[in-house]
Amino acid sequence: MALYAKAAEILERVEAKQGAIKTLVFDSKFKNIKQLFALVCETQKYSTILEEIIESTKLIKKTKIKMNLAKVLVYDFVIGKGLKCGGPWKALMLKHRSRLEAALARMKIKKNVSCNQALLPPNIQQSEGDLLPRYVRVNTLKTTVEDAIDYFKRDGFSYLGKAYRLDDLKLKGKSFVADLHLPDVLVFSAKTDFHDHYLYKAGHIILQDKASCLPAYLLNPSAGSVVLDACAAPGNKTSHLAAIMKNKGRLFAFDLDAKRLATMSTLLLRAGVTCQQLANQDFLKVDPDGSQYKDVEYILLDPSCSGSGMVCLRDEESSLQKDSGRLKALAAFQLHCLNHALRFPRLQRLVYSTCSIHTEENEQVVAACLQQNRSFRLVPGLQQWPERGLPPFTQCLRASATKTLTHGFFVALLERHTAETLKEQAAQISSPVAEMSSFIPSANEGKQEADDANVSENGDGEFQEASSTNMELDVALDAKATEEEIKILGGAKKKRKRRKKKRDVSTAETR
Ligand SMILES: C[S@@+](CC[C@H](N)C(=O)[O-])C[C@H]1O[C@@H](n2cnc3c(N)ncnc32)[C@H](O)[C@@H]1O
Repeated sequence: MALYAKAAEILERVEAKQGAIKTLVFDSKFKNIKQLFALVCETQKYSTILEEIIESTKLIKKTKIKMNLAKVLVYDFVIGKGLKCGGPWKALMLKHRSRLEAALARMKIKKNVSCNQALLPPNIQQSEGDLLPRYVRVNTLKTTVEDAIDYFKRDGFSYLGKAYRLDDLKLKGKSFVADLHLPDVLVFSAKTDFHDHYLYKAGHIILQDKASCLPAYLLNPSAGSVVLDACAAPGNKTSHLAAIMKNKGRLFAFDLDAKRLATMSTLLLRAGVTCQQLANQDFLKVDPDGSQYKDVEYILLDPSCSGSGMVCLRDEESSLQKDSGRLKALAAFQLHCLNHALRFPRLQRLVYSTCSIHTEENEQVVAACLQQNRSFRLVPGLQQWPERGLPPFTQCLRASATKTLTHGFFVALLERHTAETLKEQAAQISSPVAEMSSFIPSANEGKQEADDANVSENGDGEFQEASSTNMELDVALDAKATEEEIKILGGAKKKRKRRKKKRDVSTAETR
């Protein structure tokens, strides 16, 4: 019963705009966070269908339970895997079973579909997170890809070799393949669950969406180098960087959120990472000229974003999308981080990534950054990757459920110009930045949004993520900017407005 009561309470609070699903679930301290998260997300996804069933059966009137409790119960009872409780709520659902099942059947007949999923709008069906393959990154700090493959074969999985086409990743049952793009990634069928698997528990494999493996892979820091991960927690990309560096060199990793950093520390320990130096610190306040950072050559910047690429959070996202002010505030923060990162004196390569599908947080941020930092250029990453940044930013990579069978993602690889590339650029008539200029928000607009986000050039950012994370959840779920962050941005805006009003009043008074 606790599961349904908690899930209903979270839906209630989401409606009251008290926070994002992810934050509320994590902060609920419920013992099975994964189960709670799945139930809330699924109920939210089927929300309109559930409302229709509940209204047509007059369930609320007959049972006197509240709408959100009815939704979570009906979801698990007729659409999900069955009720996970006994007691009065089970009795209540059993009493109304035939009515509920008949209502669902009528909807399917009316829409001429045979399965529940087909009742969802096409865009939701298409990018269903649970239809994405299960990607497994082999942690080369602890094992090799060959040994992992052998282990899985001995464990009853059947290895089909290396994939050559995207369609080869659409697997069934216990078959698996080696990925066609990333050498340390294995691909299993969508429903494969490794959370209890020995290799996962021992840190030999990391459960990470393939798109989220792109940033470290593209940055490709050499062993022995000095690398900085600016917004690092919960750290799957940090551990990937460490694996690429073979644990040799130094890996500075920052995050504002202490709880997330604590989780990260456990994850890194499990993954056998030893070259890291973690700091619970605002990256925007890290001094690029500090002596300890003088040799930083590589930066991975994966800042908080709208999370619009994460298929399970799309419903929440659509409300953010409607609020273009919030999106602009996020973009201003991202640009601020990017500009700050490019100030490290010996930086050679930087990867900027988001799990957002919005141009505002992706190509537009890169465009504005390149315009403000002429000594850096975009370089093409992973030419064989099928989905590219929006023209003219085709050097960048995009990812999506439909084109790459992953969550939505964006990755840009920037490199410092050499004398040669500068000459080349000067000789070029057009450059992506020039072509994109209409895309770039005007200087004033950018400034306004940065002010709104209180992350303007004074570096006095208030941008904090208040949620904690659960290490059992895949990294994809950890990337979204939380409602708290958005609230802080909103709060900053309100505070600024209040300050302005005060100023205006006092100016008016002195006149
Ligand atoms: C997208 S998540 C990072 C995911 C991480 N790269 C990974 O792969 O596991 C963004 C992170 O940025 C952190 N963050 C937000 N603002 C920050 C700032 N100013 N300085 C450092 N970290 C920040 C958040 O706490 C959050 O953990």
